[in-house]
Amino acid sequence: PKEPLVLGIESSCDETGVGIVRGTTLLTNTVSSSMDEHVRFGGVIPEIASRAHLDAFVPTLQESLQEAGVTLEDIDAIAVTSGPGLAGALMVGVCAAKALAVATGKPLYAINHLVAHVGVGLLDAKHDAGAAAGLGAGQLPENLGALLVSGGHTEILRIRSITDDVELLGSTIDDAAGEAYDKVARILGLGYPGGPAIDKLARQGNPKAIRFPRGLTQPKYMGTAEEKGPHRYDWSFSGLKTAVARCVEQFEARGEEVPVADIAAAFQEAVVDVITSKAVLACKEHGITDLLLGGGVAANSRLRELTGQRCASAGIKLHVPPLNLCTDNGAMVAALGAQLIMGGIAPSGVAFAPDSSMP
Ligand code: KG4
Ligand code: ZN
Repeated sequence: PKEPLVLGIESSCDETGVGIVRGTTLLTNTVSSSMDEHVRFGGVIPEIASRAHLDAFVPTLQESLQEAGVTLEDIDAIAVTSGPGLAGALMVGVCAAKALAVATGKPLYAINHLVAHVGVGLLDAKHDAGAAAGLGAGQLPENLGALLVSGGHTEILRIRSITDDVELLGSTIDDAAGEAYDKVARILGLGYPGGPAIDKLARQGNPKAIRFPRGLTQPKYMGTAEEKGPHRYDWSFSGLKTAVARCVEQFEARGEEVPVADIAAAFQEAVVDVITSKAVLACKEHGITDLLLGGGVAANSRLRELTGQRCASAGIKLHVPPLNLCTDNGAMVAALGAQLIMGGIAPSGVAFAPDSSMP
C-alpha cells in the first residue's frame, strides 16, 4: 500500500512502547515506563526492565490498537527494535513481534533503534516551537544530520538515506550524556533520573563558578580540518564525572558547604558546551544543513538553547520533534518501518536475533 499501516514495538531499555502510523501520519504512541521501579537503584536494572516489558506489553498493545481504532488484521506490517539496547529487554519486544507476525501472517521488519530516532522526524507531527518545522512528510532534507543524546547514546549521524545510508560521524567513547547526568545527580544527592533534577537546579546556579573539563578537546584529539585528530567529533564524559566528584570532596574536606546549584550549572554547561560545539563542527565539515535533535536529553533546556544559538550562527536549520517522540517510543519504530516499506525494502523475516550492540 502507498501509505502502509505499521505497528511499531520498542523495548530496548525501560520503555515499553507501541506506536501505530499510516505512512507518515502518527495515529497512536502508547508508552509504559518501568522508570519508577529503577529509582531506588539509581539506574536501569536490566532484569527488572525485562520483566516489566513482559508485564506491560499486552496492555500497551491493546491500548494502542484501541486508541488508533484499528485491529491486528488491519495492520500491514509489524516493526520492532532489534538493537542496540539491553539484550534481555530487546528479547521481549522481538519475541512478541515475532509471535504477532507468525500468528497474523504479517511481514516483520527489524529496526535499528538509533535510526528510528531519526525516522521519527519524518512523521508530520508538529515540531516544538522555536525550532524549524517538521522534516516535511516523508521528504528528508538532502544534507541531514542527527544529534542523538540520551541515557544510552550520544551520537552525531549523517543521513544520506534513512533506509540504507546512515553514517556515524562521532559518538561518546565512554558514558552517554544522560548517564553522566544520572551519575552526577547521584554524587550531588539529587534523585534519579538526574537529568531533570540537574536541569532545574542549574537555573539557580552560576555556570561560571567552576570550570569543568570538556573531554577530548585537546589538539591531539581534535587535529585540524585538514588533518583530523582521532576523536575530532567524539565525546568523553567519564573524566567530567570524576572532576565533579573531586570538586565535591574538596569542599567537604575543607568543611565548607557544597555549592550544589553552582556545581550543577557548571557541570551542565560543560556537557552542553562540548556536545553542541562538536556537533556543529561535524555539521559544518560535512556540509550538513539540517540537524535533527533526539533522545531524552533533548528535553534539557540549556541543550535546546545552545544548540539553537550555535546552529543559527552556523546557518544550520534545527529540527526538534515533540518531546514524547524524542524519548524512546514505539511510534519511531513504526515510522522507520513505514519508510522501509515505502522504499521497497523487503521484510526481515522471523529468523533474526536481537543484537544488543548493533552498530
Ligand atoms: O531517551 P531516554 O528517555 O532513554 C534512553 O536513555 O534511551 O533518555 C533518558 C535520559 C536519562 O539519562 C535522563 O537523565 C535524561 O535522559 N534526561 C535529561 C533531561 N530529561 C531527561 N537530561 C538532561 N536534562 C533533562 N531535562
Ligand atoms: Zn533511545
